[in-house]
Amino acid sequence: MCDYELLCRQLAALTEGIPYQTANLANASALINEAMEDVNWVGFYMMQDGRLVLGPFQGRVACIEIPVGKGVCGTAVALDETQLVPDVHLFPGHIACDSASESEIVVPIHKEGSVFGVLDIDSPIKNRFTEADREGLEQIVALLEKML
Ligand code: SME
Repeated sequence: MCDYELLCRQLAALTEGIPYQTANLANASALINEAMEDVNWVGFYMMQDGRLVLGPFQGRVACIEIPVGKGVCGTAVALDETQLVPDVHLFPGHIACDSASESEIVVPIHKEGSVFGVLDIDSPIKNRFTEADREGLEQIVALLEKML
């Protein structure tokens, strides 16, 4: 189980005083990827021109654009709600970037009252993510929102 309290402290220390958004998100993806077990993709999609566009990530090459309402990421934006998907094959419209992915969690990120993007994490194991992961990752995102 990931120690989200420790991860929050590490992320705060890593991004403190750094005014570069891309650098902070890139390091955040690397830090989360190292801290979590059984994950094969950790990264960000950001709203641009009315759709999600691929941002900094760790993992295999991924799709570049995701329309709002499509896939797990686009659904998280449309509903403005974390999507915890125990089995991606059962999620209608799931977008398969890495065929190894079996489960996924996507947390919306906000800036100035609207959705800025999402944090997306994939796992090669079904049922990988729990309610504790949802809470922990929402805390991580709350921290990231302060530096956007
Ligand atoms: N599976 C996502 C697409 C992004 S990849 O997981 C990196 C989705 O359905 O939105």
